[in-house]
Amino acid sequence: MDVVKRKNRYGKLIIFALMALFIFGQYAPVQAANKTGNPITLNRTVYTLKKGKSIKLKATLDKAARIPSGTKKQAVIWKSSNSKVASVSGNGKVTAKKNGKTTITARIKGTKIKASSRITVGTPVSKIKLSGETVSLKTGEEFALKTTISPKKASVKKLTYESSSPEVAAVSKKGVVRAVSSGTAIIRVTAADGSGKKASCTVTVTEDTVPTIVPVSSVVLNKTQLNLKQGGEKQLVATVGPSDAANKSVKWESSNQAVAEVSDNGTVKAVAEGTAVITASAHNNVHASCTVTVESVSGQPEEPDGSEKTLVVYFGTPVQERSGQVDGISSASRTAEGETYQGNTEYIAEMISRETGADLFEIVPETAYADVYETVRDLAQQEQQQNARPAIKNEIQNFSQYDTVYVGYPIWWSDMPQILYTFFDTYDFSGKNIIPFSTHGGSGLSGTVERIKNLEPQAVVYQGLAIRRTDVLNSDSRVKSWIQNREM
Ligand SMILES: Cc1cc2nc3c(=O)[nH]c(=O)nc-3n(C[C@H](O)[C@H](O)[C@H](O)COP(=O)(O)O)c2cc1C
Repeated sequence: MDVVKRKNRYGKLIIFALMALFIFGQYAPVQAANKTGNPITLNRTVYTLKKGKSIKLKATLDKAARIPSGTKKQAVIWKSSNSKVASVSGNGKVTAKKNGKTTITARIKGTKIKASSRITVGTPVSKIKLSGETVSLKTGEEFALKTTISPKKASVKKLTYESSSPEVAAVSKKGVVRAVSSGTAIIRVTAADGSGKKASCTVTVTEDTVPTIVPVSSVVLNKTQLNLKQGGEKQLVATVGPSDAANKSVKWESSNQAVAEVSDNGTVKAVAEGTAVITASAHNNVHASCTVTVESVSGQPEEPDGSEKTLVVYFGTPVQERSGQVDGISSASRTAEGETYQGNTEYIAEMISRETGADLFEIVPETAYADVYETVRDLAQQEQQQNARPAIKNEIQNFSQYDTVYVGYPIWWSDMPQILYTFFDTYDFSGKNIIPFSTHGGSGLSGTVERIKNLEPQAVVYQGLAIRRTDVLNSDSRVKSWIQNREM
């Protein structure tokens, strides 16, 4: 009896010891390896191959993950999620059977630790062609890369884009290159199907300078509609752009002299009741016009002279660069002057308002933005992706009284914050002058002036002013000279 019992006890001890060895040997090193990353990796995480072809996948095991299981080689279990599309053998050889997609998984035997490879059975990309090998851009310009994928029937057409120097030329997920600062950058395009096919182009960015020979490109009148009482007068002002155009003279004409006459300096005289179109034309026939409605003396009174009013509208949300830390001058969006912290855009807006005597209006969001950079950054991106229209809490009183509106905003993700779109949706700018300005971290106006023109086709939109956030505190003379010499 004793002998039998002892035998049983030894048996149990041996089994326990073996189990402990097995469990320890199996998991301890794996857990250690898990802290540093996946202990198993595959030489390809994505691949496309033709029906009938095969490829050998190679699994690499982290040394720390090797289990002293007695065998020389660590065992890997291979599996295909859809073996009708592609099967996988015990040593990682994948054989493509029919068009479709499958995921091949390599698992460390006896564990749940695995790595996988997305396999497409179909037509791999054989070549990517870019329309040009070199592109020259001026700062602030954008350029959409044109790519041709061969063959046309390639199964996975997705491409990824990468810039060697995003501070010179940034590239979006869709391949739109934005020139940020002068220099050279290489944009690499890679097929996302695992074929390894690539193409690249060199982008040379130069500072945007004013061209030397400048023809007249625009004529804009300060009014596109004018109501006058019979016998009344009003001078129209034509601005010919750009400012250094070779010949800036304009010729004034009235479509109906019996209703309104116009002098060589643009002064309109109301002759009799009716409507006339006054046109100012540059020598190359670039022109602009204003519809004049003349009312008889008993009609509505004319808008009094000297009633032109200007408004400065701005939006900004001073954020902290890093949580709990305000970086006032160098890079964050707060501007430090003495003890007070202000938004960069607000600082410029106040300067314009002081300089022009204009009223000031801050766009206040219904839901305030956090003042932590990371939070605003993520929310702003989400709003842009959803083309959101965040609600505005406050309202401009008697908006129609303003002829000229300065509109200021920070650049967020290469565009205006979405709340500016709400703003332009809300107010009617027909016949008004819009003068945009931005503060930014390097993107300039980032195409926003063109977007405002599209949003407000009935308005006269001037060239904007962009102030880099690090220049805000030293921008007084630039802002003042821009106010004096602004152009359309
Ligand atoms: C959400 C977010 C996105 C931004 N995106 C850009 C950008 O795409 N390009 C750029 O030059 N600066 C970008 N900036 C920097 C701001 O345009 C810059 O700091 C601006 O002066 C902030 O003005 P504010 O203090 O009036 O808000 C971004 C800032 C934030 C908070």
